[in-house]
Amino acid sequence: MSAEKSRHLPRAPAGFEAIPAPLHHASTVVFPDVATLRARQWQQHEVYTYGLMGTPTTVELQRKLCEIEQARYCLLAPSGLAAISMTDLALLQVGDVVAIPDNAYAPNRELAHGLLTRLGIDYWVYDPMRPVVFPERTRLVWLEAPGSVTLEMPDLPALIQAAKAVGAWTAIDNTWSAGLAYQPFSHGIDISLQALTKYQSGGADVLMGAVLTQDHDLHLKLKYAHMRLGLGVGADDAWLVLRGLPTLRLRYEQHDRVTRALAQWMKTLPVFEQVLHPALPDSPGHEYWQRDFSAAGGLVSVVFAAEVGQARVDGFVDALQVFRIGYSWGGPVSLALPYDPATLRRHGAWQPGQSLVRFCIGLESFEDLRADIEQALESAGLSRFSPPLRSGT
Ligand SMILES: Cc1ncc(COP(=O)(O)O)c(C=O)c1O
Repeated sequence: MSAEKSRHLPRAPAGFEAIPAPLHHASTVVFPDVATLRARQWQQHEVYTYGLMGTPTTVELQRKLCEIEQARYCLLAPSGLAAISMTDLALLQVGDVVAIPDNAYAPNRELAHGLLTRLGIDYWVYDPMRPVVFPERTRLVWLEAPGSVTLEMPDLPALIQAAKAVGAWTAIDNTWSAGLAYQPFSHGIDISLQALTKYQSGGADVLMGAVLTQDHDLHLKLKYAHMRLGLGVGADDAWLVLRGLPTLRLRYEQHDRVTRALAQWMKTLPVFEQVLHPALPDSPGHEYWQRDFSAAGGLVSVVFAAEVGQARVDGFVDALQVFRIGYSWGGPVSLALPYDPATLRRHGAWQPGQSLVRFCIGLESFEDLRADIEQALESAGLSRFSPPLRSGT
């Protein structure tokens, strides 16, 4: 009987060592005896009780993510959005207000509008580019730097101070910086959220999110929500993200380098009325980016003059060949998406009829991407477009 039992125990064969983290699939975790079963509590840090609460594979991923952001605790969720909803549901109760910047990843606001309000939790949309006084009942302030489509960089220290003034927790969606270009905990932020779907996995092939913290009590609140909502992640997915991490910094630097070069080049094209990228001196919040961040990511957006019209903007996007049309970012293939900017930011100063295209830059060369944009502008009849003179310009 005991020999039968031992055949099912996990083994680490002596003499075998390899570079990748071991991949452990487990729902059931087996205990050697009842005393151990009773002694282990799922709330304890890095204790194995059941697959939902962690396996050596997910714990390895959590540890590595903590190292990147100098965090102490990390919880994994099946998507970035699941990590956002876990944070909201862990920390908010009836009568509380959650504050969300108006340029945030839209499903964050949609979650508040469509679900939290039904639970008696109010949400308050604020302009991250102006000084703000949060309502008294604000319990949680979301930060996003920059807004991931319109790319304005807020004055984070001012927003953190305003949140602290009303005793609210601060949670930053730090996906754009991948935890590399900005270290939230050294700036007094309570929670860092990562959509690992983007840069960390890097393959456009996995969905996952992480919530990182330093404070033990805050981590426990989140951990209870994680358990109660049953937000486990698959072993294969965790392993895929682990596989992406050793190249994270290299890939991020490459995304950054090519995106900056493209943004600078696009500034020279009259068809783009505005090029939004925090490293460009006239992009909103550039001075805050320069002060607080050590790098920029792989996103750049352009705003077309209203006279171009949506049909020609759509024609331009359709004509792109290296860029593909699709959601997300941080993967190897560049993507383009058209937006109506008026629907993105309540407080933005957009002209009626303007269109915005967000490019997420993959791992292709600058030359190939520039040539693709040039040929698509040509094909949409936009290569010789010059904006009409407007009064005051
Ligand atoms: C800024 C930002 N945060 C969070 C998410 C959510 O990530 P996921 O797609 O893994 O739910 C996204 C996804 O596009 C995003 O752009």
